[in-house]
Amino acid sequence: MSAELIAAATSARELAFAPFSKFRVGAALRATDGTVVTGCNVESASYGLTMCAERVAVFKGVSEGYTRFTAVVVVTDVAELTPPCGACRQLLWEFAPDATVTLANTHGRSETFTVRELLPRGFDASQLDPVTPP
Ligand code: THU
Repeated sequence: MSAELIAAATSARELAFAPFSKFRVGAALRATDGTVVTGCNVESASYGLTMCAERVAVFKGVSEGYTRFTAVVVVTDVAELTPPCGACRQLLWEFAPDATVTLANTHGRSETFTVRELLPRGFDASQLDPVTPP
């Protein structure tokens, strides 16, 4: 668990665009070459289009050529640490299957899990092989 990554996610959280929920989230990912990619949640007036901080970070990273991540940090300011939602867990499974996931808050609390703990038996491209007929 890296203090650098927690600091990066904490800074990213400052840019959260969350006028509807007021729930500000920051995320930071470490790519396999050590590069840090950050994201914050971005909400839409059409609420369902809102994007979580974790997926913003994954999409930013992939769009810049980073497709594998080894560590993920999610920062909020609430006492109960914030775990990634189901949709984010899916994306982490695909781009960060071996990563640690550190949940942290701005009051210094943190706890670390793995993507595999958070999403056992995830779905990915390996299951897209042509279906063998019965
Ligand atoms: N949110 C995240 O960005 N990441 C999470 O792990 C949980 C939820 C955001 C989405 C929405 O903008 C707000 O938090 C409330 O759900």
